Amino acid sequence: MDKLIVMGGTRLKGSISVSGAKNAVLPIMAAGILNDGESIIHNVPNLEDVKVMIKVLEAVGAKVKKEGTTLIIDSSTVNSYELSDSLVRKMRASNLVMGALAAKFGTFKTLYPGGCNIGSRPIDLHLKGLERLGLKTSEGHGYIEGKSSGLVGNSIHLDFPSVGATENIMMAACMAKGKTIIRNAAREPEIVDLQNFLNSMGANVKGAGLDVIKIEGVKKLKSSPVEHTVIPDRIEAGTHMVAAAITGGDVEIKNIIVEHVEPVISKLRECGASISNYNNCVRVTVPGRIRANDFRTLPYPGFPTDMQPQIMALMSLAQGTSVISESIFDNRFKHVDELRRMGADIKVEGRVAIVTGTERLTGAFVEATDLRAGAALVLAGLAAEDATVIENIYHIDRGYDNLEKKYSQLGAKIIRVSNLNGSN
Ligand code: UD1
Repeated sequence: MDKLIVMGGTRLKGSISVSGAKNAVLPIMAAGILNDGESIIHNVPNLEDVKVMIKVLEAVGAKVKKEGTTLIIDSSTVNSYELSDSLVRKMRASNLVMGALAAKFGTFKTLYPGGCNIGSRPIDLHLKGLERLGLKTSEGHGYIEGKSSGLVGNSIHLDFPSVGATENIMMAACMAKGKTIIRNAAREPEIVDLQNFLNSMGANVKGAGLDVIKIEGVKKLKSSPVEHTVIPDRIEAGTHMVAAAITGGDVEIKNIIVEHVEPVISKLRECGASISNYNNCVRVTVPGRIRANDFRTLPYPGFPTDMQPQIMALMSLAQGTSVISESIFDNRFKHVDELRRMGADIKVEGRVAIVTGTERLTGAFVEATDLRAGAALVLAGLAAEDATVIENIYHIDRGYDNLEKKYSQLGAKIIRVSNLNGSN
Protein backbone atom coordinates (compact mmCIF):
# COMPACT_ATOMS: atom_id res chain seq x y z
CA MET A 1 0.00 0.00 0.00
CA ASP A 2 1.24 3.54 -0.81
CA LYS A 3 2.55 5.88 1.86
CA LEU A 4 3.01 9.62 1.98
CA ILE A 5 6.18 11.21 3.30
CA VAL A 6 5.76 14.82 4.36
CA MET A 7 8.75 17.01 5.22
CA GLY A 8 7.28 19.73 7.37
CA GLY A 9 8.23 23.33 7.83
CA THR A 10 7.43 24.99 4.50
CA ARG A 11 4.96 27.88 4.41
CA LEU A 12 2.47 27.02 1.66
CA LYS A 13 2.20 29.75 -0.94
CA GLY A 14 0.29 30.03 -4.20
CA SER A 15 -2.98 29.08 -5.75
CA ILE A 16 -4.93 25.82 -5.60
CA SER A 17 -8.12 24.67 -7.31
CA VAL A 18 -10.80 22.59 -5.61
CA SER A 19 -12.22 19.48 -7.34
CA GLY A 20 -15.84 18.35 -7.53
CA ALA A 21 -17.51 17.29 -4.29
CA LYS A 22 -17.21 13.62 -3.30
CA ASN A 23 -20.40 13.76 -1.27
CA ALA A 24 -22.31 15.30 -4.18
CA VAL A 25 -21.05 13.07 -6.97
CA LEU A 26 -21.74 9.77 -5.17
CA PRO A 27 -25.54 10.26 -4.73
CA ILE A 28 -25.73 11.82 -8.20
CA MET A 29 -24.08 8.72 -9.65
CA ALA A 30 -26.59 6.54 -7.77
CA ALA A 31 -29.40 8.69 -9.18
CA GLY A 32 -27.96 7.98 -12.63
CA ILE A 33 -29.66 4.58 -12.35
CA LEU A 34 -33.10 6.18 -12.35
CA ASN A 35 -33.61 7.27 -15.95
CA ASP A 36 -33.36 4.99 -18.94
CA GLY A 37 -30.74 7.00 -20.77
CA GLU A 38 -27.46 8.85 -20.53
CA SER A 39 -26.37 11.07 -17.67
CA ILE A 40 -23.35 13.21 -18.49
CA ILE A 41 -21.77 14.41 -15.26
CA HIS A 42 -19.01 17.03 -15.28
CA ASN A 43 -16.48 18.07 -12.62
CA VAL A 44 -16.15 14.50 -11.31
CA PRO A 45 -13.15 14.15 -8.98
CA ASN A 46 -10.64 11.36 -9.47
CA LEU A 47 -11.29 9.44 -6.25
CA GLU A 48 -11.22 5.84 -5.08
CA ASP A 49 -14.83 6.21 -3.87
CA VAL A 50 -15.90 7.25 -7.38
CA LYS A 51 -14.17 4.14 -8.77
CA VAL A 52 -16.06 1.97 -6.28
CA MET A 53 -19.36 3.64 -7.20
CA ILE A 54 -18.64 3.03 -10.91
CA LYS A 55 -18.29 -0.68 -10.11
CA VAL A 56 -21.53 -0.60 -8.08
CA LEU A 57 -23.38 0.89 -11.07
CA GLU A 58 -21.81 -1.65 -13.44
CA ALA A 59 -22.87 -4.46 -11.11
CA VAL A 60 -26.53 -3.56 -11.67
CA GLY A 61 -26.01 -3.38 -15.44
CA ALA A 62 -25.22 0.29 -16.16
CA LYS A 63 -22.54 1.21 -18.69
CA VAL A 64 -20.14 3.81 -17.34
CA LYS A 65 -17.40 5.74 -19.16
CA LYS A 66 -15.00 8.24 -17.62
CA GLU A 67 -13.36 10.81 -19.87
CA GLY A 68 -11.17 13.15 -17.82
CA THR A 69 -13.46 14.76 -15.29
CA THR A 70 -16.63 13.78 -17.17
CA LEU A 71 -18.56 10.64 -16.38
CA ILE A 72 -21.16 9.19 -18.72
CA ILE A 73 -23.65 6.77 -17.19
CA ASP A 74 -25.91 4.85 -19.52
CA SER A 75 -28.69 3.33 -17.44
CA SER A 76 -30.73 1.93 -20.35
CA THR A 77 -29.09 -1.45 -19.67
CA VAL A 78 -29.71 -1.55 -15.87
CA ASN A 79 -31.27 -4.96 -15.33
CA SER A 80 -30.56 -6.00 -11.75
CA TYR A 81 -31.79 -4.88 -8.34
CA GLU A 82 -29.29 -7.03 -6.49
CA LEU A 83 -25.84 -6.08 -5.22
CA SER A 84 -24.06 -9.05 -3.76
CA ASP A 85 -20.58 -7.85 -4.61
CA SER A 86 -18.23 -7.36 -1.67
CA LEU A 87 -17.38 -3.88 -2.98
CA VAL A 88 -20.54 -2.66 -1.21
CA ARG A 89 -18.64 -3.26 2.03
CA LYS A 90 -15.87 -0.92 0.89
CA MET A 91 -17.99 2.19 0.87
CA ARG A 92 -20.95 3.25 2.96
CA ALA A 93 -22.25 5.49 0.18
CA SER A 94 -22.99 2.38 -1.89
CA ASN A 95 -26.19 2.20 0.19
CA LEU A 96 -27.40 5.17 -1.87
CA VAL A 97 -28.39 2.80 -4.67
CA MET A 98 -31.13 1.37 -2.42
CA GLY A 99 -33.44 4.33 -3.08
CA ALA A 100 -32.71 4.39 -6.81
CA LEU A 101 -33.23 0.62 -7.23
CA ALA A 102 -36.42 0.77 -5.16
CA ALA A 103 -37.70 3.55 -7.45
CA LYS A 104 -36.77 1.67 -10.61
CA PHE A 105 -37.76 -1.90 -9.71
CA GLY A 106 -39.89 -1.50 -6.56
CA THR A 107 -37.38 -3.82 -4.91
CA PHE A 108 -33.67 -4.16 -4.03
CA LYS A 109 -31.26 -6.51 -2.33
CA THR A 110 -27.82 -5.44 -1.16
CA LEU A 111 -25.08 -6.39 1.25
CA TYR A 112 -24.91 -4.33 4.43
CA PRO A 113 -22.73 -1.29 3.57
CA GLY A 114 -19.23 -0.63 4.95
CA GLY A 115 -17.08 2.53 4.77
CA CYS A 116 -15.07 4.84 6.99
CA ASN A 117 -14.53 3.46 10.45
CA ILE A 118 -15.93 6.43 12.38
CA GLY A 119 -18.38 4.91 14.80
CA SER A 120 -21.56 2.96 14.40
CA ARG A 121 -23.39 4.08 11.29
CA PRO A 122 -26.76 2.38 11.18
CA ILE A 123 -29.15 2.79 8.26
CA ASP A 124 -32.38 2.57 10.24
CA LEU A 125 -33.48 6.04 9.10
CA HIS A 126 -33.00 5.09 5.44
CA LEU A 127 -35.07 1.94 5.92
CA LYS A 128 -37.80 3.64 7.97
CA GLY A 129 -38.15 6.27 5.25
CA LEU A 130 -38.31 3.68 2.46
CA GLU A 131 -40.87 1.68 4.46
CA ARG A 132 -43.09 4.77 4.67
CA LEU A 133 -43.12 4.68 0.84
CA GLY A 134 -44.49 1.14 0.92
CA LEU A 135 -41.35 -0.96 0.87
CA LYS A 136 -41.22 -4.02 3.14
CA THR A 137 -37.64 -4.37 4.32
CA SER A 138 -35.91 -7.32 5.95
CA GLU A 139 -32.35 -8.01 7.07
CA GLY A 140 -30.56 -11.33 7.33
CA HIS A 141 -27.28 -13.11 6.44
CA GLY A 142 -25.60 -9.73 5.96
CA TYR A 143 -28.15 -8.62 3.35
CA ILE A 144 -30.86 -5.97 3.33
CA GLU A 145 -33.82 -6.60 1.13
CA GLY A 146 -36.71 -4.32 0.19
CA LYS A 147 -39.85 -5.42 -1.63
CA SER A 148 -42.94 -3.61 -2.83
CA SER A 149 -45.52 -3.73 -5.55
CA GLY A 150 -44.86 -0.06 -6.36
CA LEU A 151 -43.91 2.88 -4.14
CA VAL A 152 -46.49 5.37 -2.93
CA GLY A 153 -45.68 8.88 -1.67
CA ASN A 154 -46.10 9.64 2.03
CA SER A 155 -45.01 12.09 4.70
CA ILE A 156 -41.78 11.17 6.46
CA HIS A 157 -40.29 12.72 9.58
CA LEU A 158 -36.61 11.93 10.09
CA ASP A 159 -35.54 11.59 13.75
CA PHE A 160 -32.20 13.12 12.72
CA PRO A 161 -31.37 15.05 9.53
CA SER A 162 -29.34 12.19 8.03
CA VAL A 163 -27.67 13.13 4.75
CA GLY A 164 -27.80 9.63 3.24
CA ALA A 165 -31.36 8.91 4.40
CA THR A 166 -32.60 12.21 2.93
CA GLU A 167 -30.90 11.39 -0.40
CA ASN A 168 -32.19 7.81 -0.54
CA ILE A 169 -35.75 8.90 0.17
CA MET A 170 -35.55 11.71 -2.43
CA MET A 171 -34.47 9.21 -5.07
CA ALA A 172 -37.03 6.59 -4.09
CA ALA A 173 -39.85 9.15 -4.04
CA CYS A 174 -39.13 10.55 -7.52
CA MET A 175 -41.28 8.00 -9.27
CA ALA A 176 -43.54 7.03 -6.36
CA LYS A 177 -47.27 7.56 -6.82
CA GLY A 178 -48.30 10.94 -5.39
CA LYS A 179 -46.56 13.35 -3.07
CA THR A 180 -43.77 12.75 -0.54
CA ILE A 181 -42.83 15.24 2.16
CA ILE A 182 -39.57 14.78 4.08
CA ARG A 183 -39.49 16.74 7.34
CA ASN A 184 -36.31 17.36 9.34
CA ALA A 185 -34.43 16.71 6.10
CA ALA A 186 -30.67 17.25 5.89
CA ARG A 187 -29.83 20.70 4.50
CA GLU A 188 -26.34 20.09 3.14
CA PRO A 189 -25.40 21.71 -0.21
CA GLU A 190 -24.94 18.21 -1.66
CA ILE A 191 -28.69 17.62 -1.17
CA VAL A 192 -29.39 20.71 -3.28
CA ASP A 193 -27.03 19.41 -5.97
CA LEU A 194 -28.90 16.09 -5.99
CA GLN A 195 -32.25 17.91 -6.28
CA ASN A 196 -30.93 19.89 -9.27
CA PHE A 197 -29.73 16.70 -10.96
CA LEU A 198 -33.02 14.86 -10.31
CA ASN A 199 -35.02 17.79 -11.66
CA SER A 200 -32.86 17.94 -14.79
CA MET A 201 -33.96 14.31 -15.36
CA GLY A 202 -37.60 15.38 -15.15
CA ALA A 203 -38.26 14.78 -11.44
CA ASN A 204 -40.28 17.27 -9.40
CA VAL A 205 -38.36 17.95 -6.17
CA LYS A 206 -38.57 21.20 -4.21
CA GLY A 207 -37.19 22.51 -0.94
CA ALA A 208 -33.67 21.02 -0.81
CA GLY A 209 -31.48 23.24 1.36
CA LEU A 210 -34.41 23.69 3.77
CA ASP A 211 -35.63 21.17 6.30
CA VAL A 212 -38.80 20.27 4.38
CA ILE A 213 -38.42 18.66 0.96
CA LYS A 214 -41.45 18.00 -1.25
CA ILE A 215 -41.39 15.47 -4.05
CA GLU A 216 -44.22 15.04 -6.51
CA GLY A 217 -43.82 11.61 -8.08
CA VAL A 218 -43.65 11.44 -11.89
CA LYS A 219 -44.49 8.34 -13.97
CA LYS A 220 -41.22 8.28 -15.86
CA LEU A 221 -38.01 10.28 -16.04
CA LYS A 222 -36.55 11.58 -19.31
CA SER A 223 -34.57 9.09 -21.34
CA SER A 224 -32.90 11.85 -23.37
CA PRO A 225 -29.36 12.67 -22.16
CA VAL A 226 -29.08 14.93 -19.09
CA GLU A 227 -26.01 17.00 -18.20
CA HIS A 228 -24.95 18.17 -14.78
CA THR A 229 -21.89 19.82 -13.25
CA VAL A 230 -21.03 18.73 -9.70
CA ILE A 231 -20.56 21.47 -7.07
CA PRO A 232 -17.05 22.09 -5.66
CA ASP A 233 -16.01 20.10 -2.61
CA ARG A 234 -16.48 22.30 0.47
CA ILE A 235 -14.57 19.87 2.70
CA GLU A 236 -11.59 19.82 0.35
CA ALA A 237 -11.72 23.65 0.36
CA GLY A 238 -11.83 23.71 4.17
CA THR A 239 -8.91 21.30 4.34
CA HIS A 240 -6.82 23.67 2.15
CA MET A 241 -7.77 26.62 4.36
CA VAL A 242 -6.42 24.75 7.35
CA ALA A 243 -3.30 23.83 5.34
CA ALA A 244 -2.67 27.55 4.78
CA ALA A 245 -3.36 28.35 8.45
CA ILE A 246 -1.25 25.55 9.93
CA THR A 247 1.81 26.43 7.83
CA GLY A 248 1.45 30.19 8.34
CA GLY A 249 1.06 30.37 4.56
CA ASP A 250 -0.59 32.54 1.97
CA VAL A 251 -2.90 30.47 -0.21
CA GLU A 252 -5.59 31.32 -2.72
CA ILE A 253 -8.25 28.59 -2.96
CA LYS A 254 -10.13 28.71 -6.25
CA ASN A 255 -13.30 27.16 -7.65
CA ILE A 256 -15.37 27.15 -4.47
CA ILE A 257 -18.83 28.32 -3.45
CA VAL A 258 -17.93 30.69 -0.62
CA GLU A 259 -21.31 30.32 1.11
CA HIS A 260 -20.71 26.57 1.49
CA VAL A 261 -17.47 27.16 3.39
CA GLU A 262 -18.73 30.01 5.60
CA PRO A 263 -18.98 27.72 8.68
CA VAL A 264 -15.24 27.06 8.38
CA ILE A 265 -14.27 30.60 7.34
CA SER A 266 -15.98 32.20 10.34
CA LYS A 267 -14.26 29.88 12.83
CA LEU A 268 -10.84 30.28 11.22
CA ARG A 269 -11.25 34.06 11.39
CA GLU A 270 -11.96 33.75 15.13
CA CYS A 271 -8.69 31.81 15.39
CA GLY A 272 -6.81 34.75 13.87
CA ALA A 273 -6.62 33.77 10.19
CA SER A 274 -7.15 36.56 7.71
CA ILE A 275 -9.54 35.44 4.97
CA SER A 276 -10.69 37.48 2.01
CA ASN A 277 -13.13 36.23 -0.60
CA TYR A 278 -13.82 37.24 -4.20
CA ASN A 279 -15.16 35.54 -7.37
CA ASN A 280 -15.53 32.01 -5.99
CA CYS A 281 -12.10 32.19 -4.34
CA VAL A 282 -10.76 32.74 -0.86
CA ARG A 283 -7.30 33.85 0.16
CA VAL A 284 -6.05 32.69 3.53
CA THR A 285 -3.12 34.35 5.28
CA VAL A 286 -2.05 34.15 8.90
CA PRO A 287 -0.63 37.28 10.53
CA GLY A 288 0.53 35.57 13.77
CA ARG A 289 0.19 32.35 15.72
CA ILE A 290 -3.24 30.72 15.42
CA ARG A 291 -5.35 31.13 18.60
CA ALA A 292 -7.27 28.28 20.23
CA ASN A 293 -11.04 28.21 19.88
CA ASP A 294 -13.88 25.83 20.71
CA PHE A 295 -15.63 23.76 18.06
CA ARG A 296 -18.82 21.72 18.02
CA THR A 297 -19.72 19.68 14.96
CA LEU A 298 -23.31 20.03 13.76
CA PRO A 299 -25.40 19.31 10.67
CA TYR A 300 -25.04 21.98 7.93
CA PRO A 301 -24.85 24.96 8.26
CA GLY A 302 -23.04 24.14 11.52
CA PHE A 303 -19.35 23.29 11.66
CA PRO A 304 -18.89 20.08 9.61
CA THR A 305 -17.88 16.83 11.26
CA ASP A 306 -15.82 16.16 8.12
CA MET A 307 -13.55 19.08 9.17
CA GLN A 308 -13.17 18.01 12.82
CA PRO A 309 -9.92 16.01 12.48
CA GLN A 310 -8.29 18.74 10.38
CA ILE A 311 -9.25 21.46 12.86
CA MET A 312 -7.89 19.29 15.68
CA ALA A 313 -4.51 19.20 13.89
CA LEU A 314 -4.60 23.00 13.73
CA MET A 315 -5.63 23.38 17.38
CA SER A 316 -2.70 21.11 18.37
CA LEU A 317 -0.42 24.00 17.40
CA ALA A 318 -2.62 26.88 18.52
CA GLN A 319 -2.00 29.26 21.40
CA GLY A 320 -4.23 28.13 24.26
CA THR A 321 -6.66 25.29 24.91
CA SER A 322 -9.58 24.27 22.72
CA VAL A 323 -12.57 22.08 23.40
CA ILE A 324 -13.73 20.11 20.36
CA SER A 325 -17.12 18.38 20.66
CA GLU A 326 -18.13 15.75 18.13
CA SER A 327 -21.91 15.58 18.05
CA ILE A 328 -22.51 13.71 14.77
CA PHE A 329 -20.50 10.49 15.12
CA ASP A 330 -19.89 8.44 18.24
CA ASN A 331 -16.31 7.34 17.52
CA ARG A 332 -14.61 9.95 15.41
CA PHE A 333 -11.43 10.51 17.42
CA LYS A 334 -9.18 7.81 15.97
CA HIS A 335 -6.77 10.49 14.74
CA VAL A 336 -6.10 11.55 18.34
CA ASP A 337 -3.59 8.74 19.01
CA GLU A 338 -1.81 9.50 15.74
CA LEU A 339 -1.60 13.24 16.48
CA ARG A 340 -0.28 12.39 19.95
CA ARG A 341 2.55 10.42 18.33
CA MET A 342 3.52 13.71 16.72
CA GLY A 343 3.57 15.50 20.06
CA ALA A 344 0.02 16.83 20.29
CA ASP A 345 -1.46 17.25 23.77
CA ILE A 346 -5.04 15.93 23.51
CA LYS A 347 -7.30 14.43 26.15
CA VAL A 348 -10.55 12.73 25.22
CA GLU A 349 -13.61 12.43 27.42
CA GLY A 350 -16.43 10.73 25.57
CA ARG A 351 -17.26 12.82 22.54
CA VAL A 352 -15.18 15.80 23.71
CA ALA A 353 -11.49 16.38 23.01
CA ILE A 354 -9.48 18.92 24.97
CA VAL A 355 -6.54 20.13 22.95
CA THR A 356 -3.75 22.12 24.58
CA GLY A 357 -1.74 23.79 21.86
CA THR A 358 1.99 23.09 21.75
CA GLU A 359 4.76 25.14 20.15
CA ARG A 360 5.76 22.34 17.79
CA LEU A 361 4.85 18.92 16.43
CA THR A 362 7.48 16.44 15.34
CA GLY A 363 7.38 14.02 12.43
CA ALA A 364 6.50 10.38 13.18
CA PHE A 365 5.22 7.16 11.60
CA VAL A 366 1.44 7.47 11.66
CA GLU A 367 -1.57 5.77 10.12
CA ALA A 368 -4.56 7.22 8.29
CA THR A 369 -7.37 5.47 10.17
CA ASP A 370 -10.09 7.03 8.02
CA LEU A 371 -10.45 9.61 5.28
CA ARG A 372 -10.50 12.90 7.21
CA ALA A 373 -8.15 11.52 9.88
CA GLY A 374 -5.69 10.96 7.03
CA ALA A 375 -6.12 14.56 5.88
CA ALA A 376 -5.47 15.78 9.43
CA LEU A 377 -2.18 13.88 9.50
CA VAL A 378 -1.09 15.42 6.20
CA LEU A 379 -1.81 18.86 7.67
CA ALA A 380 0.02 18.09 10.91
CA GLY A 381 2.93 16.73 8.85
CA LEU A 382 3.12 19.93 6.81
CA ALA A 383 3.70 21.89 10.02
CA ALA A 384 5.80 19.35 11.96
CA GLU A 385 9.56 19.28 12.31
CA ASP A 386 11.24 16.57 10.21
CA ALA A 387 9.53 13.82 8.27
CA THR A 388 6.09 12.33 8.86
CA VAL A 389 5.35 8.99 7.20
CA ILE A 390 1.62 8.35 6.73
CA GLU A 391 0.53 4.79 6.10
CA ASN A 392 -2.77 3.43 4.83
CA ILE A 393 -3.31 6.40 2.53
CA TYR A 394 -5.96 4.50 0.59
CA HIS A 395 -8.33 6.35 2.92
CA ILE A 396 -7.00 9.73 1.74
CA ASP A 397 -7.34 8.68 -1.91
CA ARG A 398 -10.98 7.81 -1.25
CA GLY A 399 -11.83 11.48 -0.84
CA TYR A 400 -9.03 13.75 -2.10
CA ASP A 401 -8.11 14.14 -5.75
CA ASN A 402 -4.30 14.32 -5.95
CA LEU A 403 -3.77 15.92 -2.55
CA GLU A 404 0.02 15.56 -2.61
CA LYS A 405 0.27 17.07 -6.10
CA LYS A 406 -1.84 20.05 -5.07
CA TYR A 407 0.29 20.69 -1.97
CA SER A 408 3.53 20.21 -3.94
CA GLN A 409 2.36 23.02 -6.22
CA LEU A 410 2.16 25.22 -3.11
CA GLY A 411 5.75 24.39 -2.19
CA ALA A 412 5.16 21.51 0.22
CA LYS A 413 7.71 18.72 0.34
CA ILE A 414 5.43 15.73 0.07
CA ILE A 415 5.92 12.53 -1.89
CA ARG A 416 4.02 9.31 -2.45
CA VAL A 417 6.01 6.13 -2.04
CA SER A 418 4.97 2.63 -2.99
CA ASN A 419 6.39 -0.28 -0.99
CA LEU A 420 8.65 1.72 1.34
CA ASN A 421 11.44 -0.54 2.76
CA GLY A 422 10.12 -3.36 0.64
CA SER A 423 7.08 -3.73 2.88
CA ASN A 424 3.57 -3.84 1.45
C1 UD1 B 1 -22.65 11.85 5.01
C2 UD1 B 1 -21.31 12.11 4.36
C3 UD1 B 1 -20.19 12.08 5.40
C4 UD1 B 1 -20.51 13.03 6.55
C5 UD1 B 1 -21.91 12.79 7.11
C6 UD1 B 1 -22.33 13.81 8.15
C7 UD1 B 1 -21.65 11.22 2.14
C8 UD1 B 1 -21.31 10.19 1.13
N1 UD1 B 1 -21.07 11.13 3.34
O1 UD1 B 1 -22.59 10.54 5.55
O2 UD1 B 1 -18.98 12.47 4.76
O3 UD1 B 1 -19.57 12.85 7.58
O4 UD1 B 1 -22.87 12.82 6.04
O5 UD1 B 1 -22.25 15.08 7.63
O6 UD1 B 1 -22.40 12.15 1.86
N2 UD1 B 1 -27.58 7.75 11.41
C9 UD1 B 1 -28.42 6.87 12.05
N3 UD1 B 1 -29.27 6.13 11.30
C10 UD1 B 1 -29.32 6.25 9.94
C11 UD1 B 1 -28.47 7.17 9.30
C12 UD1 B 1 -27.60 7.91 10.08
O7 UD1 B 1 -28.39 6.72 13.27
O8 UD1 B 1 -30.12 5.57 9.29
C13 UD1 B 1 -26.63 8.53 12.23
C14 UD1 B 1 -25.19 8.16 11.88
O9 UD1 B 1 -24.79 7.01 12.60
C15 UD1 B 1 -24.44 9.39 12.28
C16 UD1 B 1 -25.43 10.52 11.93
O10 UD1 B 1 -26.71 9.90 11.87
O11 UD1 B 1 -24.19 9.38 13.64
C17 UD1 B 1 -25.13 11.23 10.65
O12 UD1 B 1 -25.15 10.34 9.58
P1 UD1 B 1 -25.57 10.74 8.11
O13 UD1 B 1 -25.96 12.18 8.05
O14 UD1 B 1 -26.53 9.74 7.61
O15 UD1 B 1 -24.19 10.56 7.37
P2 UD1 B 1 -23.90 9.81 6.01
O16 UD1 B 1 -24.98 10.08 5.02
O17 UD1 B 1 -23.52 8.41 6.29
